[in-house]
Amino acid sequence: MSLQPYLASQNLHSAIDVVLDTAYQGISDDAWKKLFTRARQSGLEQFIEDMFAGKHINNSEDRPALHSALRNLTKTPVLINGADVMPAVAEVWHRIEALCNKWVGVTDVIHIGIGGSDFGPRLAIEALAHVPSIQSRGMRMHFLANIDTAELARILARAQPHSTRVIVVSKSFTTLETSMNAKAVVAWLKDSGCTKSQVAHALYAVTANIPAAKEFGVEENNIYPFWDWVGGRYSVWSAVGLPIALQYGFETFKQFLAGAEAMDLHFKNAPLEDNLPVIMALSLLYQQEKHNIKAYAAIPYADALDWFPKWLQQLDMESNGKSVDRNGNPVKHSSPVVFGSAGSNAQHSYFQLFHQGTEIIPIDFIAVREPMSDRPEAIAHHRILLSNCLAQAQALANGKAASNPNDVYPGKRPSNLLLLPKLNAFYLGALLALYENRTATLGALWNINSFDQPGVEYGKVLAKPIEKALASHQNDITASTDIDAVTATRINLLNS
Ligand code: F6P
Repeated sequence: MSLQPYLASQNLHSAIDVVLDTAYQGISDDAWKKLFTRARQSGLEQFIEDMFAGKHINNSEDRPALHSALRNLTKTPVLINGADVMPAVAEVWHRIEALCNKWVGVTDVIHIGIGGSDFGPRLAIEALAHVPSIQSRGMRMHFLANIDTAELARILARAQPHSTRVIVVSKSFTTLETSMNAKAVVAWLKDSGCTKSQVAHALYAVTANIPAAKEFGVEENNIYPFWDWVGGRYSVWSAVGLPIALQYGFETFKQFLAGAEAMDLHFKNAPLEDNLPVIMALSLLYQQEKHNIKAYAAIPYADALDWFPKWLQQLDMESNGKSVDRNGNPVKHSSPVVFGSAGSNAQHSYFQLFHQGTEIIPIDFIAVREPMSDRPEAIAHHRILLSNCLAQAQALANGKAASNPNDVYPGKRPSNLLLLPKLNAFYLGALLALYENRTATLGALWNINSFDQPGVEYGKVLAKPIEKALASHQNDITASTDIDAVTATRINLLNS
């Protein structure tokens, strides 16, 4: 097989110094033209305009999806039912800034939340910890998501109760894992000798359900609101991202918002042909239709971004993992499975399948131009990291002939290269907003509502009678309307 890339021309695009190279997608100029025509004909440009204008693009819940307003640092008015939301958004920014200056002597922060109330801040805290130029206040930031008490036990064993702050983060304030964990942490504070007023002082909430937070016992001054027009998985830009500001300073948080805002402006204004989120969405659509791909991978060649694929999994699969379109009609395609982890480690795990497996898995290689530490070895190590990244993409695209079938690399395995100039708060914000806008674009192209998640509810409902049956300790449960025969047997097994 030739070592020539199987197609390479006109494939470099950039916005705010983020470069996207689609050369290894194997999409001809003619095919690209058709993709852009199709995107136009599907009304994508109108969709983008509607999204930023606060139209009710979340049609099943009859509300806008306006997370872009949360990073609208210029405060250009954003109207919902004729009222500008920016004053309320800016007030939360002021309160976050004030809180950053207020917290002194805090050793531990326990951030309690799950899904969209967890992944974004966790990713940002982790990623920015690797940036040498960012000053950290050095608090221990604990993320408590799972109902499994392993995480709870590990955190409570380390935290110092009298200098701990607790932030309960839940859009709905009804999520069982979060409320159970919050109760456990409050009980731990009390058991550790904190007085009622010390507990009240330590307890904060970030939520769109203020009455429920008050009912839980959080003082009004300690409640940071966000709104029903912010989806949970799109909420890191709100006070959900509070840990970022508290640990790294309000200016860093603002930089994070600024990067996202810059990417939004690009998405909103650039023609489709130069539009990074749109190009990325179309490349996936092409591979899905051409190769019937069922999965794709996002591989950041940066340890700092190891949490990125987990964040992306919720973003893509909760947004677009649907079988029906906006009108309830079956769709042919929706979100493929997305997975990934940091390279080059990932190469030593599942890359064998990428190169020689029977499935074609498109890949987004994400690389950072600058090294991620100021160690003396950083430049040499970073060069090796980048050469691995480039080599994998080349090997996947071009393949390799061999007389022994075992050594044949079939090639023609598509990938994108996304190159960030550096990793800092600005480019982290830009990266996340790029993917958010790409997810929204894919939803628009599939005519799927990317902003609801009805599929997560049924299991939660079924868990209630099952929990009751487990709590009964009986091992003679029989099938009923709520519990089928298989599950009844499993409950009996657990209760024996
Ligand atoms: O169960 C899924 C989900 O509703 C996600 O959409 C959301 O991010 C997560 O649970 C947490 O929800 P909340 O912020 O309301 O606690």
